[in-house]
Amino acid sequence: MKERWSSLKTEIWKVNKSNPDLETMRRASQIIKQGGLVAFPTETVYGLGANGLDAQAVLGIFKAKGRPADNPLILHIANQKDVFYLAAGVPLKAQVLIEAFWPGPLTLVLPKSRFIPQEVTCGLDTVAIRMPRHPVALALIREAGVPLAAPSANTSGYPSTTEASHVISDMDGKIDLVLDGGPAGFGLESTVIDMSGEKPLILRPGGITREQIEEVIGPVEYDPANEDSHLKPRSPGMKYKHYSPHAQVVLLEGEPEEIADMLVDLIAENKEQGKKVGLLLTAETLNKLPDKQKIYWRNLGSRHDLEHIARNLYAELRSCDNAGIEVIYTETYARKDIGAALMNRLVKSSEQEIRRKQ
Ligand code: TXA
Ligand code: MG
Repeated sequence: MKERWSSLKTEIWKVNKSNPDLETMRRASQIIKQGGLVAFPTETVYGLGANGLDAQAVLGIFKAKGRPADNPLILHIANQKDVFYLAAGVPLKAQVLIEAFWPGPLTLVLPKSRFIPQEVTCGLDTVAIRMPRHPVALALIREAGVPLAAPSANTSGYPSTTEASHVISDMDGKIDLVLDGGPAGFGLESTVIDMSGEKPLILRPGGITREQIEEVIGPVEYDPANEDSHLKPRSPGMKYKHYSPHAQVVLLEGEPEEIADMLVDLIAENKEQGKKVGLLLTAETLNKLPDKQKIYWRNLGSRHDLEHIARNLYAELRSCDNAGIEVIYTETYARKDIGAALMNRLVKSSEQEIRRKQ
């Protein structure tokens, strides 16, 4: 493979998110076919795509992201039927999930077929597959004519990218192209569910909730490692420090008044130590905070609109780093519906540092 590192000039092409120009998508797919790396919007976050059947191209993803070599990738397809080519078997319950949620933010882990390079699955005998719903993602996969291996388009360990500008900030000079289709959709990643064992197991909560899944296939469990960091996660990627800005993240739990009370003291403490504080709070908590002058604060949205918070979270974590913040205080949510995915990301980015009012 030619050296694709320092010499790359990353291009940015604007695309219409609901009706991408076919000629643009053809040119982008040429880059994929030649073994290059193309970032593209999905209905969750931006993905960093390469030809999922080309081992060398897939290795390029790991290099650009600085991704640990044992963290496997998701294959993205544009046609439901392709799952039968990429998976060695598709259990009935998996087929029911596909019918219900594809295209959409649900990734299925299935036994892998022999067509998939080791580099995609990192030597596992299973493969993660999803069919995204975003028209740009679908057009790119269709034009390329191959499944796209695509992790989130961020530097490994850093929050995922939900806008083209975030992708550029992490990937400039390391990839060939960013397709700028505006903000990604949901704002957090897809749900990853392991359908390869006896019982379905949610490895990563995300865009499709446990409650939605249970409505169609009955009871499902979370990987216990989701709650307990001492256990080894079944999803290799979940063991790494993740979704973390450079600033320290601290989670505050309680009613808006309680959090506001805690913050008054915490802000004073940090001021004494000369540390720059950032607040990523709900509208309700901000309302209870008496004095916000001279503090970096951002309104994530209402406690009653977790979808809005999910959409904003990564961009706001990144904004704190850009503002030179050293400690970020943010809030916890009930771990149900979308709250489960939000809390999973927040707990990881804070390395489990949760404070409650004494
Ligand atoms: O929404 C999403 O899923 C985005 C967009 C771009 O599609 N992609 C994404 O990919 O979040 P990534 O690589 O950032 O996260 C994929 C997760 C990782 O935690 C990885 O370890 C896990 O899926 N994974 C991939 N293959 C697996 C497998 N065979 N078994 C268990 N976990 C797997
Ligand atoms: Mg990721």
